[in-house]
Amino acid sequence: MQFAMEILQGLTAPSKYLPAKYFYDKEGDAIFQEIMHCNEYYPFACELEIFRKRSAELAAAIEGHRDAFDLIELGAGDCKKSAYLLRQLVLAGADFTYVPIDISSNIIDCLQEQLPLKIPGLKVSGLNGEYLPMLTEATNVSSRRKVVLFLGGNLGNMSPIEARVFCRRLRAHLKVGDSVLIGFDLKKCPETILAAYNDRGGITRRFNLNLLSRINRELSADFDVTRFRHFPVYDPFSGACKSYLISLADQVVTLRCNGDEQRIVFMRDEEIFMEISQKYTIGQVDRLAGEALFRPVERFYDNRRWFVDVLWEAV
Ligand code: AVJ
Repeated sequence: MQFAMEILQGLTAPSKYLPAKYFYDKEGDAIFQEIMHCNEYYPFACELEIFRKRSAELAAAIEGHRDAFDLIELGAGDCKKSAYLLRQLVLAGADFTYVPIDISSNIIDCLQEQLPLKIPGLKVSGLNGEYLPMLTEATNVSSRRKVVLFLGGNLGNMSPIEARVFCRRLRAHLKVGDSVLIGFDLKKCPETILAAYNDRGGITRRFNLNLLSRINRELSADFDVTRFRHFPVYDPFSGACKSYLISLADQVVTLRCNGDEQRIVFMRDEEIFMEISQKYTIGQVDRLAGEALFRPVERFYDNRRWFVDVLWEAV
């Protein structure tokens, strides 16, 4: 089982880590909803503003020459933002199928059921799994032009090096003339960024600890979540915002991986690296486009210029 293997791999590495993609089980999805609506977490509000105010421009930009296309969304989540664009496209009579891809099977089931009711006339064909394997699946199903949405700063969950590799792979899955719309959280006042990952209500703290609880639930582990604390840091030079869980004591945790019992030893103050949320400058964003053989076409900023959605065309 993939989950068990990757969790064990992360917890037995010389520097412990857990893959951020595993935050999103049913509980994690619900806590992430709370994050998106809390005061400190600005990226969601910024991008929602872009989609609310500029859905007509976005639709016109991706509709191109009014040919049929597939609109693929990587990490669609509840697709609250993209719903503005979807409505606009349906309204404009665009010939397209919406293909949401998400790691959460819970989310894909919900979208598949509810979206066609919310947006009459919308064709939905959801895929549950990881980004690139599911993108391959989508390109096998149809040869229509592809427009890929990668919103919310999901790309920020990769280090800059991983992001470059990913964008190149993404490009390799596409043809000349296909396009991508990618959301980047931009560098800004460091305190503002740090607060977004250290909200006063402790929602982000619960979000991180939930992954330990998920491991308890799914791998019969015995993490005591009261013996770990949430520690986010932001480094303005690198633009990396990172979340750690810090062990409050010397402790041993056991979990079951494919039938075997595994013991994980934590020293007091030892960290588990949970997540990176990389922040970019617009210069870095443009450079990334070129490095991955895309041509920057258009930028959509929110009012405060805290966040940008960029449209790139595959060249
Ligand atoms: C879903 C990856 C965009 O990094 O800002 C929010 C996830 N983690 N608060 C982000 C997250 C903690 C979020 N992304």
